[in-house]
Amino acid sequence: MDGECWLFGYGSLIWRPDFPYLERGPARLTGWKRRFWQGSPDHRGTPDAPGRVVTLLPAEGHAVTGMAYRLAEHDLAEILGTLDHREKAGYAQHRISIELRHTSRVQSALIYVADETNADFAGEAPLVEIAEQIMRCEGPSGRNLDYLQKLHVALAELDVHDSHVQALMQLVADRSAT
Ligand code: BEZ
Repeated sequence: MDGECWLFGYGSLIWRPDFPYLERGPARLTGWKRRFWQGSPDHRGTPDAPGRVVTLLPAEGHAVTGMAYRLAEHDLAEILGTLDHREKAGYAQHRISIELRHTSRVQSALIYVADETNADFAGEAPLVEIAEQIMRCEGPSGRNLDYLQKLHVALAELDVHDSHVQALMQLVADRSAT
């Protein structure tokens, strides 16, 4: 791993990196899309009423902006061990290439992804249903709605427009106004 390892966060890792890092910066991952398609029975919901959190799906012509973290090799085992525990709903590690925004440098990085082989994968659903699920669910890590709002704010701070997140925020706003 030539003395360093990069981790790409596209969800809660953007605003809540509770691990040490050497540097971080916005980065772009092409060929993937971010979707609220992963069930959360343990963080933003319960086994009886799972919430929804983001995962990534391969998608030609799409790109995802998130936050890349450069980690010291000597911290790696502990950080990845902690993340494996934190994401105990079972995301798998992938190695991908990202482009760091400030330098345009292409960098190999790790991501955590849940796909349809994951027992908690919730998959596609009408956006209205996803928004309503997010509005009503809550788990040990807090309200599912807080997760959506924090992601929305974190992306705005990165100057990123994510149409899926934006559409969910709009549906939530519409429902809160009625
Ligand atoms: C992320 O922010 O990249 C992330 C957070 C939790 C699980 C998987 C990915």
